[in-house]
Amino acid sequence: MGKRRIALLTSGGDAPGMNAALRAVTRKGIYHECEVLGVIRGYQGLIDGDFREMQANSVSGIIDRGGTILKSARCEQFKTSDGFSRALRNIAKNKIDAVVVIGGDGSLAGARKLAEAGTPTIVIPATIDNDMPGTEYALGFDTALNNIVEAVNKIRDTAFSHDRLAIIEVMGRRSGQLALYAGIACGAEYILIPEAPADIDDICRGLERRNVKGKAFNIIIVAEGVGRGHDIAAQVAARLPISSSVTVLGYIQRGGSPTAKDNIVGSLMGAAAVDCILAGNCDCLIAMRHGQVMPVIYGEAVKMCAGIDRAMYELAGVLAI
Ligand code: ADP
Ligand code: F6P
Repeated sequence: MGKRRIALLTSGGDAPGMNAALRAVTRKGIYHECEVLGVIRGYQGLIDGDFREMQANSVSGIIDRGGTILKSARCEQFKTSDGFSRALRNIAKNKIDAVVVIGGDGSLAGARKLAEAGTPTIVIPATIDNDMPGTEYALGFDTALNNIVEAVNKIRDTAFSHDRLAIIEVMGRRSGQLALYAGIACGAEYILIPEAPADIDDICRGLERRNVKGKAFNIIIVAEGVGRGHDIAAQVAARLPISSSVTVLGYIQRGGSPTAKDNIVGSLMGAAAVDCILAGNCDCLIAMRHGQVMPVIYGEAVKMCAGIDRAMYELAGVLAI
């Protein structure tokens, strides 16, 4: 077989660790004499034919950067038959043997469609939500989690000093993973997540009970999928004479230098993606299973539902009594 040509793209919400993964795909690919083409702005770049030849030094000096040097996009056009056909034509025109997609579950759906249409693909999971099926871990989660913990630790100082209720809204439209892990790491009194709706009257009773016992400041972490932090504050204010502060962390949690974990896992996953291509073992997710990086074919991966750890959620309640 001649030199393999690998197209490489990052798609969906950017996540710290994407750069480590694309660096590993590029360098390991080149090490094994593959040609690596970077696609700019995810599936949009496939449609537009925006490809760049990657050299080993194209990925120099990027490992400490969040985001993605290949840029990313949410690309509705790729879901249309016209956009999809244009992407397939550009893949054929550039003689691409395999496409490596670094992204979240939407990006995985796109990669599966390419695979069904005859283009071998590999997906490296990357989303701060950590809500992809088939893998225990997606790149970006650890960095986002640490960003949240750092911010909440600062907010706690004011909540304590002024005896306030601090409500912190974190990302996660459909998934409460970030909120749950952050809540445990910060010792939050309440964690509101889409997977386990809570009752505001119960929360208010708990706040009153703690107040009687002398605990006058409290922390609530709310995942955006449950509702806005300001709405929660209004609901509490309608029931109790408590002063609240609301902080919406927004993109503060998604950016910044990746943690060592995200860079290490990103490097391992990028290297594993190239191994799969060289072995002719495509159409799989590079998953983390039982702490090991391994390929899982798409059909199997999507059967393994991503969900929150119920025991961990219950524990958060116990630790907050
Ligand atoms: P993420 O990958 O982070 O979950 P999105 O859900 O926005 O982010 O998905 C990224 C991109 O993947 C979308 O903008 C779209 O181009 C593509 N995509 C998502 N869902 C599908 C689908 N069902 N079919 C084809 N492409 C899809
Ligand atoms: O999927 C990652 C994520 O950061 C979600 O947590 C959040 O709801 C969403 O992306 C925000 O999307 P956008 O980047 O389009 O604002």
